[in-house]
Amino acid sequence: MSLASTPSEPMLTGRRIVLGLTGSIAAYKSATLARELRRRGADVRVVMTPGATEFITPLTMATLVDHPVHSDFTEDQDAGVWTNHVELGIWGDLILVAPATANTLAAMVHGGCDNLLQAVLLSARCPVAVAPAMDLDMFTHDATQSNLATLKERGVDVIEPGTGPLASGLVGKGRMAEPEDIADHLEQWFAKDLPYAGKRVVITAGPTHEPLDAVRFLGNRSSGKMGFALAEALAAQGAEVTLVAGPVSLATPDRVHSRVDVSTAMDMNDAVQKIWPRMDLGIACAAVSDFRPAVTSEDKWHRGDVPPAVELIENPDILAGMGATKQHHQRLVGFALESDDGVASAEGKLARKNLDAIVLNSLRDAGAGFGHDTNKVSVLFQGGKSVSFELKSKYEVAQDLVELWRTTLNP
Ligand code: C5P
Repeated sequence: MSLASTPSEPMLTGRRIVLGLTGSIAAYKSATLARELRRRGADVRVVMTPGATEFITPLTMATLVDHPVHSDFTEDQDAGVWTNHVELGIWGDLILVAPATANTLAAMVHGGCDNLLQAVLLSARCPVAVAPAMDLDMFTHDATQSNLATLKERGVDVIEPGTGPLASGLVGKGRMAEPEDIADHLEQWFAKDLPYAGKRVVITAGPTHEPLDAVRFLGNRSSGKMGFALAEALAAQGAEVTLVAGPVSLATPDRVHSRVDVSTAMDMNDAVQKIWPRMDLGIACAAVSDFRPAVTSEDKWHRGDVPPAVELIENPDILAGMGATKQHHQRLVGFALESDDGVASAEGKLARKNLDAIVLNSLRDAGAGFGHDTNKVSVLFQGGKSVSFELKSKYEVAQDLVELWRTTLNP
């Protein structure tokens, strides 16, 4: 999901990928792959072996990547213009050979230079990934397996083929991985360099519903938008995000690792307590109900049998529980929505709940707080430092917060 007003950038934005095609029937899937990589923001250049051009035309690939395709050592034989294979290997952040035939894998191992793609691979300075595609007996042959092992040892990223019907009519392992899966794989590969790579983050978001009877509940007007925007922004920065969501009508943002849907504060507390010990960063954005009815009627109350008063009992403070068990390496951030300027009370929560930072938004500020697509926040840190931001879309606020926490909390 992208929040409608400010969608986040596709994950491969600005990534330069040299896509090499070799002579396998799976080359037809490379058209979809090229389109998928571009849809995700990558800049793609295509190099095809002569064999690949028999399965799919350079014109198809050139049209999809909006750039001429290279398949010969010479661009224009009569004019003596040659293709600079070194340039492509320097230009790319990654060379992806998909499909990679047994022949090209073997050439990569022994340093073959029979065609332009092999020359590009031999002179490449950037990392290389291959998506093998071949018949099952070729794939399982000792020669191919030993070539793949050698390439892996040299740091080539092998995107395993799938199992299923093959062009030969046989069924087994050897089908090139699906274009979407290859693109996902590359996203993860590039995500290794992102600032939050390897960091596990739990985010609570949305309201809780505390049942009164079979159909009614105590709740609040939290939409969950701020927490979901944070989940999206953190995942885009490479974090492994677990979103614990109260009842909201929001789709799970792209790249969020997992989502646990809960309804009551007690359920949210249970979910968080299970997850928190494994996390590096906790963000409590949920508007948790501080109270729940002491008794919940299993039936619907009808006029006449409604109790004259409802006894409320306190819910656990989820965030305080996280603070009480916070480990040395863990960082914890709370949110405080206040009806006045709220600084004193936010400072109190910061200390009492053992937080590293608290994000304060005031109902006094137009456009801040529940339901809006915008927010205006200040962040108070342990030790007295504070940072204030202007009114912005919730996704922009999330991006600001994610960057601020990276530099100040060093999660
Ligand atoms: O004390 P107060 O409810 O104002 O604190 C707000 C912060 O505490 C928010 O980060 C909210 O997610 C968290 N909280 C919680 N469990 C509660 C109440 C609040 O995690 N029962």
